[in-house]
Amino acid sequence: MPHNNKHLGRNPISLAGALIAFVALMNTIFLIYIDARASHANPYLGILAWIVAPAILSLGLAVYIAGLLIERRRRHRHAPEMVRPYPSLDLNVRRTRFIVTAVFAGVICFVTASVIGSYQAFHYTETDAFCGTLCHQIMIPEYTAYKLSPHARVGCVGCHVGAGATWYVRSKLSGSYQVYAALANKYPRPIPSPVENLRPAQQTCEQCHWPEKFFGAQLKVFNHYQYDEQSTPREVRLLIKTGGGSPSSGMTSGIHWHMNISNEITYAATDWQRQDIPWIQVKDRSGKVTEYRSEGSKLTPAQIAALPHRRMDCVDCHNRPTHIYLSPDRSVDRALLAGTIDRSLPFAKQQSVTVLSKDYKSTPQAMQAIANDFTAYYRTNQPAVFAAKKASIDRSVTTLKQIFGNTRFPEMNVDWRTHRDNVGHLYTLGCFRCHDDQHVSADGKRISKECTVCHTVLGESGATAEFQHPVELGDLRNFNCADCHSGGVMSQ
Ligand code: HEC
Ligand code: HEC
Ligand code: HEC
Ligand code: HEC
Ligand code: HEC
Ligand code: HEC
Repeated sequence: MPHNNKHLGRNPISLAGALIAFVALMNTIFLIYIDARASHANPYLGILAWIVAPAILSLGLAVYIAGLLIERRRRHRHAPEMVRPYPSLDLNVRRTRFIVTAVFAGVICFVTASVIGSYQAFHYTETDAFCGTLCHQIMIPEYTAYKLSPHARVGCVGCHVGAGATWYVRSKLSGSYQVYAALANKYPRPIPSPVENLRPAQQTCEQCHWPEKFFGAQLKVFNHYQYDEQSTPREVRLLIKTGGGSPSSGMTSGIHWHMNISNEITYAATDWQRQDIPWIQVKDRSGKVTEYRSEGSKLTPAQIAALPHRRMDCVDCHNRPTHIYLSPDRSVDRALLAGTIDRSLPFAKQQSVTVLSKDYKSTPQAMQAIANDFTAYYRTNQPAVFAAKKASIDRSVTTLKQIFGNTRFPEMNVDWRTHRDNVGHLYTLGCFRCHDDQHVSADGKRISKECTVCHTVLGESGATAEFQHPVELGDLRNFNCADCHSGGVMSQ
């Protein structure tokens, strides 16, 4: 029977498999060569080179082997006596020696290449380019904000995955669903925060930030500009009592110490964004437990017990360490300070915040409208200024567009209102979610809203002073700043 002398691989299935594998191999080599030469990582190329092409190569090899097995069974059925269980190898024959050596070398090369390949594939799925740009449209807000933040050089995985295999697998599992959601156009807009299964801060933030670090009091200067014609500047200099430290070094005080190291604070929130907090429990170092309840809340103890409880960590205050969406009020203050918006234009602050706070359907529409409206204001209401300062108006428009592009994302419905920053209390409740003088313990202790608990205001001379609100309101503790300071336009 002549066909039995033929090599087992000479069957249509194996030939097809070999062809697929060969083409995929050539493509893999070519793509890896291009990827290595590219000056910056391209997510699509990376995926092709390290994941798709090698997968096709393996598929080709699998088809080849399947072909061999099928062919062997077929021959066995036709002529069992002709098919011996194992190939007979006579290493004294030169040709056989050559083939065996070649097969061995081939296997070693393939195994090595696939180890390198899977490491590259692993590594690749951990890059910021993969996380931030592959699902381009979806992650634009997070990626843009991240690139402008203090953590721009910390990889996405530093906070979202962390070290160890468990979270790697968890992230890849949820990641696979996300890829499906992206392809099927089923993702939420905006992507909701807080992130439901964010890894606890002890295993991410605290791998870089030493929680016992003592910061002491930190001077922070807030530059504001009013909504009047001159955009009058106003500087607030605060000595923020960040504190921290650990009892063993004897240096403990302030915001960080109280919140994390010696105390365990647990709370329950009624809403997804953890803004409405009716119940808080503090367990101090000696194990003493104090419960605070909000006087304003009508929930019964049973209803509170049914709410999800959360142990407070870094992210309950620093929920925007990197995806920071500044409010128009804050961004414009910064641009006026930097001089990229010209303060000599009448009502510069007011007009800038006005165009930045409106709601737009899309980014291109917003860019157009910002340029038109800002320019039109001066053309119509300030013709003399318009004639004299056209260049300065144009420069300001460029800055405004840049601010919009970096902080507002109509396509994903993301801006400073959707992802509120919980550090501070000017535009959001922030610290006042708990520090509102309304949370009382059984023995009558209140979580303080006293202005000097967290910071002291420094006056002109550098001595501590009382904070002077530009509009007379009486006792500021009776207010939540965010009720008026929305982050958008303010009226005088
Ligand atoms: C410094 C740590 C850190 C880094 C680096 C980081 N993130 Fe985040 N990310 C967070 C935190 C904290 C949250 C919000 C958690 C919360 O509110 O529960 C978050 C939230 C998100 C969200 C949910 C939407 C939102 O804005 O809250 C997405 C999506 C996201 N990150 C993607 C990324 C991508 C993509 C990268 C890399 C380009 C990245 N992150 C890098 C810490 C980080
Ligand atoms: C891979 C290391 C790394 C991780 C993980 C990390 N950070 Fe940082 N963080 C840094 C570095 C480095 C800086 C200083 C950046 C600078 O000053 O340019 C910083 C700065 C900060 C600052 C000061 C920001 C400012 O305005 O100057 C805060 C707050 C902060 N991190 C909080 C966090 C929180 C919260 C997390 C976890 C969600 C986190 N970090 C995770 C490395 C890290
Ligand atoms: C009843 C409304 C209201 C409340 C509540 C309120 N503010 Fe104001 N605030 C104003 C108005 C109006 C201005 C003046 C806006 C302008 O012309 O610039 C202002 C101005 C300021 C300024 C000067 C910067 C600027 O834009 O001029 C600071 C700082 C400020 N407020 C802080 C606070 C803080 C902190 C709180 C909470 C403790 C607070 N405000 C509560 C209405 C309010
Ligand atoms: C109770 C809220 C709260 C918690 C919880 C908290 N922080 Fe802070 N943190 C602050 C405030 C407020 C500041 C002062 C700086 C500011 O106002 O921007 C600060 C400052 C910092 C700074 C210094 C920023 C600078 O200006 O140099 C770092 C870094 C930091 N925090 C990291 C952390 C880490 C890591 C954790 C978790 C172990 C943590 N924080 C927990 C509120 C908090
Ligand atoms: C989840 C509720 C909660 C949030 C949010 C919160 N705190 Fe607190 N804070 C507490 C509790 C509870 C205490 C301790 C009260 C006690 O002494 O038993 C406390 C105590 C403090 C103290 C010490 C006060 C003292 O008597 O010395 C400072 C300072 C402080 N917090 C700052 C902040 C700052 C700044 C923020 C916002 C960045 C903030 N806290 C947000 C619950 C909270
Ligand atoms: C629980 C702590 C806490 C209490 C109580 C508190 N503050 Fe603050 N405040 C902060 C923190 C933290 C910041 C800094 C936020 C930041 O870094 O962006 C801040 C910032 C400010 C700023 C500057 C805001 C800006 O963005 O320009 C003013 C003004 C201010 N506080 C006034 C007050 C007044 C007035 C009171 C009393 C009614 C008060 N604060 C009570 C924690 C507190």
